Amino acid sequence: MDVHVQAGDMSAVAADLIVVHLFQGPREPTGATGAVDAALGGAIREVLAAGDFQGKAEETLVLYTRGAIPAQRVMMVGLGPQERLDRDVVRRAAAVVARRVRALGVRRYHSLVLGAGPDALSAQEAAHAVVEGTLLGAYRFTELKVDRADLAPDLEALTLVASDTDALEAVRRGAEEGRIVGEAVCFARDLANRPGNYCTPTALAEAARAMAESQGLTVRVLGEEEMAALGMGALLGVARGSQEPATFTILEHNADRQDLPAYVVVGKGITFDSGGISIKPSDGMERMKDDMSGAAATLGALRAVAALGLPLRVVGLVPATENLPGSRAYKPGDVLTTMSGRTIEVISTDAEGRLILADALAYAQRYHPRAVVDLATLTGACVVALGHVAAGLMGNDDALLAELRAAAERSGDKVWPLPFYDEYAEQIKSDVADVKNTGGRPAGAITGGLFLQGFAEGYPWAHVDIAGTVWSEDTKGYRVKGATGFGVRLIVEWLRAQV
Ligand code: BES
Ligand code: MN
Ligand code: ZN
Repeated sequence: MDVHVQAGDMSAVAADLIVVHLFQGPREPTGATGAVDAALGGAIREVLAAGDFQGKAEETLVLYTRGAIPAQRVMMVGLGPQERLDRDVVRRAAAVVARRVRALGVRRYHSLVLGAGPDALSAQEAAHAVVEGTLLGAYRFTELKVDRADLAPDLEALTLVASDTDALEAVRRGAEEGRIVGEAVCFARDLANRPGNYCTPTALAEAARAMAESQGLTVRVLGEEEMAALGMGALLGVARGSQEPATFTILEHNADRQDLPAYVVVGKGITFDSGGISIKPSDGMERMKDDMSGAAATLGALRAVAALGLPLRVVGLVPATENLPGSRAYKPGDVLTTMSGRTIEVISTDAEGRLILADALAYAQRYHPRAVVDLATLTGACVVALGHVAAGLMGNDDALLAELRAAAERSGDKVWPLPFYDEYAEQIKSDVADVKNTGGRPAGAITGGLFLQGFAEGYPWAHVDIAGTVWSEDTKGYRVKGATGFGVRLIVEWLRAQV
């Protein structure tokens, strides 16, 4: 979908459809919406007076202009109460509009910069939110559908119309940022929606390579021999149950800028999690194709960082393998030696994410990073604790955790801290090795985080358990049923604040 920006009077725009916005409460449209109403001879006021439109968040109504203005249709969208306006309200409104416009069969439309105004969002923020929300709301995963008869045609173009010429540059900047971030989230969604037989560890690495080449990122993919040479016994241990070779993908933005501080993002890349020998129940197991959502978000974030040209060194690390119960699979009771040298007793082969991350966190040390953040669909316990709204946040550095919480509020990718007391680590002490890979049912998300902490040595580190937030069971606002791409916006907002 193309995104354009122009300045001018919305009531003079020739278009199939124009979008105007209203807050809940006032009966008199103001600003650019008021100008359109005046040109329509009060049609919007009439609708408001009749009580047919309240301006509630995500409410929409389509008017036909019958020649009063050059545009054929006007879509009114509600933004809710003015005092509750924020980026997320705008994203959701834009997302709902995009799907309604598509359902009408309209392919190109013009919109006001929803929510921009003197006592609202800045023009840049608002334009960013509109474009991001539009791309996320219009997202569909259709690449495996052969029968396309009942698919509404794709949206082709959105044009943002800034009434104020002074704001034009800010709107352009915001629209471009929103496009970059929105496309990066959709890229991550595509990877996570793709089934395990398409998105194998090798295919994931190839997708990373193709993306890196198109965005000017440095990319390297380690094979199993290189992993063995590095001593990545935990990643290779998990990979033993599968015929598909494991991959370890390294992406770098500004790789040659050793003068810049390095930030490392690590993403869990289990392309299918059957549980291995500790096999999962078959009911719902198909969902475990998305157990590489941390990897997908890492790749999406790197894509956006490159496109935005952030003046930071940013490294993405993606350890990837299937977790299957093949005849040579690792087993409960096995002890694995990690790249760090520390040994792990395997209690459950279904606690595989922390094993592959242990090697990736040890690998991260070579960058002497300013900070490392890992994104992982690590535990069902985190889903129990926080549901599908917020991801679990843990780590060894309070300042980093505070930065991530602030980035979560701005980006809409919500996170919430879990208690991270040392006492919980009692649960993962092993009789035979340095640590064991499960701590039983109590506080399962926390013991998962504490396990990782043992391998995140020598740098500020945070762990984001995204098990509950990477998949949506329904379409609502800018979340579309299926993979959400959670984590891309969180990481991008966090890194933008480091500049
Ligand atoms: N990938 C799963 C976690 C998961 C569960 C993600 C549900 C999304 C939805 C992870 O590998 C796993 O199996 N974790 C185990 C850990 C346990 C054995 C300590 C779990 O949560 O049961
Ligand atoms: Mn598992
Ligand atoms: Zn898993």
